[in-house]
Amino acid sequence: MLDNDFWRGKKVFITGHTGFKGSWLCLWLNSLGADVTGFSLSPPTDPSLFHLCSILEDTKTVIGDIRDREALSSALLNAKPDIVFHLAAQPIVRASYQDPIYTYETNVMGTIYLFEAIRLAVNNKVPIKAVINITSDKCYENKEWVWGYRENDPMGGYDPYSNSKSCAELITSSYRRSFFNPESYDLHRVALASVRAGNVIGGGDWAADRLVPDCIRALLLGNEIKIRNPYAIRPWQHVLEPLSGYLLLAQKLYQEGVPYAEGWNFGPRDDDAKSVEWIVKNICNKWGSHASYQIEKGNYEHEAHFLKLDCSKSKQKLGWAPRWNIGQGIDKTLEWTRAYTDQKCLKDICLQQIEEYSNTQAEV
Ligand SMILES: NC(=O)c1ccc[n+]([C@@H]2O[C@H](COP(=O)([O-])OP(=O)(O)OC[C@H]3O[C@@H](n4cnc5c(N)ncnc54)[C@H](O)[C@@H]3O)[C@@H](O)[C@H]2O)c1
Repeated sequence: MLDNDFWRGKKVFITGHTGFKGSWLCLWLNSLGADVTGFSLSPPTDPSLFHLCSILEDTKTVIGDIRDREALSSALLNAKPDIVFHLAAQPIVRASYQDPIYTYETNVMGTIYLFEAIRLAVNNKVPIKAVINITSDKCYENKEWVWGYRENDPMGGYDPYSNSKSCAELITSSYRRSFFNPESYDLHRVALASVRAGNVIGGGDWAADRLVPDCIRALLLGNEIKIRNPYAIRPWQHVLEPLSGYLLLAQKLYQEGVPYAEGWNFGPRDDDAKSVEWIVKNICNKWGSHASYQIEKGNYEHEAHFLKLDCSKSKQKLGWAPRWNIGQGIDKTLEWTRAYTDQKCLKDICLQQIEEYSNTQAEV
């Protein structure tokens, strides 16, 4: 269980806080009373959840590039955090085909620069005790089989994005062995973990070339939705699902350290691995007002066809389990979108959804 009191006054450093998941994480942490500092480029989209929810009001913000080692390191030293979440990344598969160098520089070297900044900060007596590297379900070598990937399956990645996240996993593992080794925990007191979530949906995602934001954009313009890979199966989940896992894990890393310093899957229930077409049909039915879609034919870059996560370990060892199924996830995303079109206070809607989520029992 998430211990709300734990977070009060905790100093938290988040990279990628201007993005979709990062903004939701800031809102949740601020509502728990944490003292949050974020380091990121400006929001990657316009509109952005970051601006729509006025994250700047409650979160100390440093706008900077993770490839700028000095800026990153001094932001971390100034923030003096207890806990670090690393989300900054180039996160889009198609964009990684267009610019693999930027993708690797950001996702791979960016991760190394952050870990080096943490080493320096720890040597300067900054009391960092928990570090979570947010990678992806796509880090696993995809065998196109029906089973969910487990934390000890081999890393891989066909496209540059997936591969960069696989590299980020290997870097985490190397830094844990080389510099934050569980056997010498008493010397450094840093517990380093990595997390792999599924395809996340929710209010306020405006990223280009992502299924649900593409659908929402089309719905708002009254256009037909166009889909590329109707039969691709993905582990879909609402954004609060993995974030609840990250928060619970951070608490465990901080309080108990070593037993939790490893890789973790936070995916949806097995039967929430759905096809792209299933998701789009469901969105259209729920949106109503003549929403429709069309399958576009063309030669697109390779993307995995079948991807599922096995979350037995998170259930067993952390007591974490999904709370909202994908149907509820879609409902919450459309509820948020309607609030956006009705010009309601979106920060209130997000906080209300966080509260509803927190009050839902997990089915462990
Ligand atoms: N959204 C998903 O379905 C999903 C699934 C699995 C993993 N992830 C991972 O979760 C993390 C967050 O994803 P998101 O969906 O919020 O993406 P996003 O694009 O909305 O946010 C990315 C964040 O990283 C920052 N960023 C990008 N390049 C940077 C750079 N060079 N220097 C500093 N900051 C930089 C952006 O400013 C933004 O704050 C990413 O690491 C992503 O790979 C996302």
